[in-house]
Order: sequence, then C-alpha cells, then structure tokens
Amino acid sequence: MKEVALFYGTYTGVTGEVAQKIVNELGADKVDIFNISKDGDKMENYKKLIIGTSTWSIGELQEDWNDFMPKLQKMDFTGKTVALFGTGDQVGYPDTFLDGMGMLYETFQYRGANFVGYWPTVGYDFTSPLPLLDHDHFVGLAIDEDNQPELTDERIKEWCSQIKPLLGI
Ligand SMILES: Cc1cc2nc3c(=O)[nH]c(=O)nc-3n(C[C@H](O)[C@H](O)[C@H](O)COP(=O)(O)O)c2cc1C
Repeated sequence: MKEVALFYGTYTGVTGEVAQKIVNELGADKVDIFNISKDGDKMENYKKLIIGTSTWSIGELQEDWNDFMPKLQKMDFTGKTVALFGTGDQVGYPDTFLDGMGMLYETFQYRGANFVGYWPTVGYDFTSPLPLLDHDHFVGLAIDEDNQPELTDERIKEWCSQIKPLLGI
C-alpha cells in the first residue's frame, strides 16, 4: 500500500483520464488510484488523499460520489490531508461550473480534513460560487476538457509540482 491514494468519480471517462495523468505526473509508484464506484471503502486506509469529481445535471455531484456520500458522511478526516480536483464545462454551465468539487470540499472540510492544492481562478470565466475558496482561488485544481483541453496537461503539471512536497512525495 502506498502513502497517497487518489479516488475519482467519472461518467464519460474524462475525470478518470485526468486522474491517471495526475498519478503519472506524481509517480505511479507513489500513488494508488481507485474508482469511487468500486473501491471507496479503501479510503479510510490512507492519510493523504487526492479526490476528483465531475459535475452533472446542472450542479449535481457525479453519481458514484453521490452514492458514496452516506459512507463519506460517517468518516473522520481529522489529521488527514486532501487535494481536490474537478472537471466541468464553464461555457455550458457557468453558474454551476465545478459545483461537484465544491460539494466535496464542504463535506471533507466538515469532517475535519486539511486541504492543499488551491488553484488560481485566472484564465477561467464562470459565475458559480461553490468551487471557490475566495475570489481568486478554487478549492482545488479546475479542469475544463470541454473548452480548454489544450491547457489540461500544463495545469496538471503545475498543480502536481505544487502538491508534491505538501503530500510528502
Ligand atoms: C447534461 C450535462 C450536464 C452537465 N452539468 C455540468 C455542470 O453543472 N457543471 C459543470 O461544471 N459541468 C457540467 N457538465 C460537464 C461535465 O462535467 C464535463 O464534461 C466533465 O468533464 C465530464 O467528466 P466525466 O466524464 O468524468 O464525468 C455537464 C455535462 C452534461 C452533458
């Protein structure tokens, strides 16, 4: 078992691909990767987590995360470190862009987690308040494969170099 684990939820596969890229960037020998639809119960074994979701149905959490919510709401993340990432569509859904990531932030925060990997809002155009830490920062990495796919690899690279030392990798 590795020290860090990434858990993702995906519907059409986009968040799964981003998850794999993040693991490749951090080192596949350093980070375990799990789909929340199958392996959510393993989350309690790790102290350092990377958590990713897309947003669906205009402001809803990806459905596998939704299904896992009752279990998540019973877990204790006190003393644990969490880095969040989200995928969404800022042009199609500006009012609910990355709401799923915002919802997971609220849940993990309420359950005691410490966060790393906040991300600047420069270069995005949207109005949803939920994924924001403050006016200038998202609560985690923001990926828009629908409208800015050319920026994804660069964003992942920069975010990973930011979180690497904070996760002790
Ligand atoms: C019907 C529909 C509703 C969506 N709703 C949202 C939304 O409210 N907010 C958002 O940021 N993205 C929304 N999206 C975009 C998806 O989140 C985005 O394409 C994402 O990358 C899909 O990732 P996945 O394949 O890993 O689930 C929506 C897409 C569709 C087709």
